[in-house]
Order: sequence, then C-alpha cells, then structure tokens
Amino acid sequence: MWGLGRKQRKGLVGLDIGSSSIKAVELKKTRNGYELVNLGLDSLSPDTVVEGTIMDALSVSSAIQKIFADNQIQTDDVATSVSGHSVIVKKITMVAATDAELAQAIPYEAQQQLSADVSDVNLSYQVLGPSATPNGLDVMLVAAKREKVLNYTQALSQAGKNTAVVDVDAFALQNAFEASYEPPPDRTFALLNIGASITNINIVRSGIPLFTRDVSIGGKRYTEALQKGLDLSFEDAEKLKMGGEVASVRPEMKSVHLRAVSDILLLEIQKTFDFFHQTTSPEPIDRIYLAGGTARVEGLVDLLENELRIPVEILDPFRHVAVAEEQFDPAYVNDVAPRMAVAMGLALRSFDAA
Ligand SMILES: Nc1ncnc2c1ncn2[C@@H]1O[C@H](COP(=O)(O)OP(=O)(O)OP(=O)(O)O)[C@@H](O)[C@H]1O
Ligand SMILES: [Mg+2]
Repeated sequence: MWGLGRKQRKGLVGLDIGSSSIKAVELKKTRNGYELVNLGLDSLSPDTVVEGTIMDALSVSSAIQKIFADNQIQTDDVATSVSGHSVIVKKITMVAATDAELAQAIPYEAQQQLSADVSDVNLSYQVLGPSATPNGLDVMLVAAKREKVLNYTQALSQAGKNTAVVDVDAFALQNAFEASYEPPPDRTFALLNIGASITNINIVRSGIPLFTRDVSIGGKRYTEALQKGLDLSFEDAEKLKMGGEVASVRPEMKSVHLRAVSDILLLEIQKTFDFFHQTTSPEPIDRIYLAGGTARVEGLVDLLENELRIPVEILDPFRHVAVAEEQFDPAYVNDVAPRMAVAMGLALRSFDAA
C-alpha cells in the first residue's frame, strides 16, 4: 500500500478532505472484523477546497478541529489522501534482482517515466508481480507533487494533527471495497468515487489496481446545471438535487438538467473503460461500485447500468463493520455511507502489517 509510513501503528483516524466536506472514520479491530469507533462529517463552503487543492487552510483546519471536538475523537494521528492532477499513477516494468536494487532504481526510473521532476514529487511504489517479459517485475509507481502533500499536511498540522499516512483516494477506495466485499479473484470491478468535483476511477482485479484515472466532474456540475437551467441559488439547487422541494420548481423540471450532466459523466466513464480495454485488458468489467455523494443522483445508477450493460451497485463501506445503534443513528450511517468510502479505506491503514 502506498503511504509515507508503513509500520504497524495504533488508532489512525481516516480523514478525507473533499471539496464539499471533510469526512472522518475511526475503527477498532474486533475478533469478527471491525467496529466503528467514530464517524464525522463537516461541510465546507465552496472555494475552501477546489479540485483537490486546499485554498483556505484556516477554514479546513477549523473544520478538522470541529469534527474531532464534536465526535470526541481522541486520536491525533491521521491517514489522509490526495487525488486529482498532482497525482500520477503509472504501471512500469523493471528488472531488479533484489528489493534494495529495486528501491535504488525507482527514482531513476521515475525520472524517465514521469514528466515531473522527481525532486518535486513524493515517490512511492508497489510491486504488482512478475511481468509478461522474462526477469521483469510489474511495478506501480505513484508520484504526488510535493507541494500538494505539503498543502494537506500543513492544514492538518495547523489543526494540531499529525499526518502518519498520505494515500491516494483511488487506493483508499479500493481498500474500503476489498474489506467490505471480499471480491473473488479473477473478476474485474470498476470502483467509482463520484464526489463534488472529482470522480476517482479505479479498475481492480485480484487486489491489483489495473487502471486508475481521476476525472474533473462531480456533483458540483449537477448543482451548477440546476442553478443555470432553473435560475436558482446554490443552496436551492443543492436541495433540489438531493430530492428536496423548492417553491418555484416542479420536481419533474429538474430531471432534464440532471440527465444532461449524467450523460457527460457516462461518456467519461465509457471513454475510460474503452481506454482500459485497449491498453490494459480485454477482460469485461463484471460490476461497477459507486461511492461518493453523487452516487445518489436521481437516475444515475439506472443510466449507467442500461448504457454500459454492466451491473451497478452503491458501495457500502460499512458492510462488514459493526455499528452500535446506541452510538450511531442507523438511518444517518446508511445515508452517508457511500461518501465515507475513502475515509473508511484510510482508517483501515491503522491495521497495516508492519
Ligand atoms: N442524496 C444526494 N443526491 C445527490 N447528490 C448528493 C446527495 N448527497 C450528496 N450529494 C452530492 O455529493 C457531493 C458530495 O459528495 P462527497 O462528499 O463524496 O464529495 P467530496 O469528497 O467533498 O468531493 P471531492 O472528492 O470531489 O473533492 C456534493 O456535490 C453533494 O451535493
Ligand atoms: Mg471525495
């Protein structure tokens, strides 16, 4: 798994800093699996985080402190994640006899393969297995711009938190999926985290991320379409999008605007799948799992299922997590579950093998 530290550590809070809200998950390991210790969510005003970049660190650090205070979270060590343009994930093939040799060769290889200067990025890698060519190893190279990682760790330290792990949204999503669904090997799954401004796509098989891509489209686009099309404020458009009533609008008036954005999203997903089939694997995608708040947009699940002809399901990251009803309102947990997938995957980093 990708991250700054890999040692076993106790109690990390998974903290997902998104453009519409910050999400926190803390877990405990039990004999039967996991138990939810804490669940927090706090909204951010628009322009605080823009497409994965923290623009207003003070607002973010106050929101983090608020989540920790409101939910009485005691742990100060966090696992967080980055995504978007400043993260590059690339599969490469290398020849290396030992782990040490591999580690030594990575920066050189990264310099050759990435357009970025290696001194400007935080590098990490994971060996995927033997390559198709003799003596080679397939390696997943992950580079995050150093300034992006600092952008996150500084906001966290302003909030008095210590960043123990910096992961990538798409991989955290995969960790949450695997813990919740124990997917059978040799089946291909597409995981989509459709947030407010970014959609993370990760196509996985047998625990390996075969293909990842971040697309700049999400719930904000739907809200903007309603704002423009129906002449509404941001707040009214959000409310309408989530199934609420707005005085001047008949409910059926919104569908055409939502559908127009869903069509754009569908096209991006279709393009990604086509590219995956052309470059990586001809194997069909067996099922799509949708996470993120925008997974719940009216009609989206059906549209994807009908147009792509692949079964689509909303991802429940708490499927195998014990949630005490005295502590957490089950209806609320169920409502926010798809938005918690990345935070859940990050919280799982507490239990990394040493
Ligand atoms: N029930 C719902 N129906 C439609 N959209 C919803 C619903 N609930 C939340 N959303 C939308 O989901 C988005 C928030 O989802 P999420 O928390 O996954 O995004 P984020 O992590 O803040 O954003 P990003 O990862 O793109 O930076 C918002 O655009 C919000 O309007
Ligand atoms: Mg998000």
